[in-house]
Amino acid sequence: MTLEEKAGMCSGLDFWHLKGVERLGIPSVMVSDGPHGLRKQDDKADHLGINDSIKAVCFPPAVLSACSFDRALLAEMGTAIGKEAQATDLSVVLGPAVNIKRSPLCGRNFEYYSEDPYLAGEIAAAFIGGIQSQHVGTSIKHFAANNQEFNRMSCSSEADERTLREIYLPAFETAVKKAQPYTVMCSYNQINGTFASENPWLLTEVLRNEWGFEGYVMSDWGAVNDRVAGLKAGLELEMPSSGGINDREIIKAVKDGSLDESVLDRAVERILTIVYRYLDNRQEETLNLEGDHKLAQHIAEESIVLLKNEDKILPLSGQENIAFIGGFAKIPRFQGGGSSHINSFRVDSALDMVSAAGYTVTYAQGFPTTSDVYDETAAAEALRIAASADKTVIFAGLPDSFESEGYDRSHMRLPDCQNRLIDEILKVQPNTVIVLHNGSPVEMPWRNKAKGILEAYLGGQAVGAAVINILYGNVNPSGKLAETMPIKLSDNPAHLNFGDSDKVQYHEGIFVGYRYYDAKEMEVAFPFGHGLSYTTFCYSNLRTDKNTVTDTDTLTVSVDVTNTGDRAGKETVQVYVSDQTGCCRRPAKELKGFEKVALQPGETKTVSITLDARSFAWYNTDLHDWFVGSGTYEILVGASSRDIRETISVQMNSAQQIPLHIHMNTTFGELLSDPRTCEFGLTMKKKMDTFFGAPEEPEKSETASEAISDAMNDAMAASMPLRNVLTFGLCTKEELTEMIDKLNQL
Ligand code: BGC
Repeated sequence: MTLEEKAGMCSGLDFWHLKGVERLGIPSVMVSDGPHGLRKQDDKADHLGINDSIKAVCFPPAVLSACSFDRALLAEMGTAIGKEAQATDLSVVLGPAVNIKRSPLCGRNFEYYSEDPYLAGEIAAAFIGGIQSQHVGTSIKHFAANNQEFNRMSCSSEADERTLREIYLPAFETAVKKAQPYTVMCSYNQINGTFASENPWLLTEVLRNEWGFEGYVMSDWGAVNDRVAGLKAGLELEMPSSGGINDREIIKAVKDGSLDESVLDRAVERILTIVYRYLDNRQEETLNLEGDHKLAQHIAEESIVLLKNEDKILPLSGQENIAFIGGFAKIPRFQGGGSSHINSFRVDSALDMVSAAGYTVTYAQGFPTTSDVYDETAAAEALRIAASADKTVIFAGLPDSFESEGYDRSHMRLPDCQNRLIDEILKVQPNTVIVLHNGSPVEMPWRNKAKGILEAYLGGQAVGAAVINILYGNVNPSGKLAETMPIKLSDNPAHLNFGDSDKVQYHEGIFVGYRYYDAKEMEVAFPFGHGLSYTTFCYSNLRTDKNTVTDTDTLTVSVDVTNTGDRAGKETVQVYVSDQTGCCRRPAKELKGFEKVALQPGETKTVSITLDARSFAWYNTDLHDWFVGSGTYEILVGASSRDIRETISVQMNSAQQIPLHIHMNTTFGELLSDPRTCEFGLTMKKKMDTFFGAPEEPEKSETASEAISDAMNDAMAASMPLRNVLTFGLCTKEELTEMIDKLNQL
């Protein structure tokens, strides 16, 4: 290839195509959004979903599908999308999006899976595996730390190393290691002052050298800041086209020697490898829109979360007089705005589906679905039919304008008109269920009064049928929350550092989502992992295959789960690990395993989940690596992060040790708490005690013992740095330096 041809390969032909090289018979291939269905635009392309794309199937967006906690189901969804991509000749589907939900306000949370990196990574890997089983690529995005929409193309996410490694990177890491996405899409934002698109640490050191990524990195649409710096850092493909400007930059840099041509060669090779992985494996497929619509319904049914079901208000029997209130019953909000917006070939509304299923309901709109205006006449009609029904179901939710790609929400409330009407209906009709259509948590001021709450999130184009099947008990709900629902916005850990500055300080560190609410022992509206069923499950006989584990072993945790109700149902068993070693500040518990199990009434199954060293590890910034400390860990098994049913302890004997770094300012406390330095610490402390005459000191006066207690003495000694040994002339500087050197070699 000529230099010009090679430089040309490194940017798009247009909005959606890579360049081909006619002279060499290299065809141009197309990529498209993603993530929860195809948004294939032919002409008049734009990346925000404004212009129409081909008719396709809108599967449940990530906000809902993650609640399935079901890897096989996500693989099935991926496979279906992969087949659709083959049928429409798309080489790469731009997704999944795995950014962590740091704040409920992020306008794009509906496209993201979870606040928990383990869950997001597992689900993403399964989805990628599904799409790529059809020889169509994925582009896991947005790499990395892209957690808000405000100034997304320029702001810098200021997060420390441990926070990045434990919270914001692992979903990508798991997906890369388990599923090798064909491509990774770097994000718009900067990370600690360096654009993701030109960040060698991110794109090369971590992604390729550590995790073993084999595909190519493409930029988010317009994320390139300095093209040559990007290429050197590991950004192979710029999307979309830059009209030749950046290709010329590359050519110029090669010619003037500031860019080694081998870097360009390597990038082109990586791009072409993936292009041909697709081209060499083309499959004959035809679009099966109806079949995929059914699958979209099934995924929604497996994911919708029953948040509350007091007095068993659900399921509806089919015999009662039911009122449906709310425009979302007629026009469901089932997807979010922006680049993931799909031109659905069909949309099922709850109102249509309820009559299709042979049930009769009365209906009143009550409030608008597109704005926040309280309409007295519509409300009065809603109140009238609600009061005269046996039970009322209110379809509430966020209008499109309340959340979207491109901007963040300014508050966490439903439109006031909806909250007001819900309140009024609850006064006249205590038997009320609220169905929610929202891409991210909303405050629920009425949550203690409503007997039933069903979280349908944004449920894809078949959401109406799925909701009806759950409301009437044809499907037993089994979704679990992939995020915490805080009571109010100000409870959220990112509240004071979100979306208002070009340098976004991630001050809450690793304490994101339930990691924070648990540490603060804070009441939440609904906890991470929560979700009810129409049946009940009992957990028993928690056991591990060993009591003592090492950092090279795996540990299998088993528990028996019994369906103690009278309906078939599914339960997601969640395994959390709690570090009791006292090593450093860690979350009270972290999700490290889950498995969804189907049980007939009365049936018991054993669920086994295998943990490995990483399940116990935290990221140590002295080592710049994951670290497993020795000591006790608790394994907590339960139905949600706040519904732990069984607990067991295991002992970890880890060969890993944090290298000693003793210096003049190391404290006695630090020395005494490490077995390797404890003896030395004690010797030194004894010297100090002798110097101060502490233990042998005779009777202290009353005033002296009030002023200086033993606890205070101990605390002061613990925080005293080694250099004080010199201050008090207990040894020479040379002697102390020699002792420190010896310790550091341990
Ligand atoms: C979004 C990406 C999307 C791309 C192409 C960007 O604005 O951030 O997620 O894949 O546009 O539509």
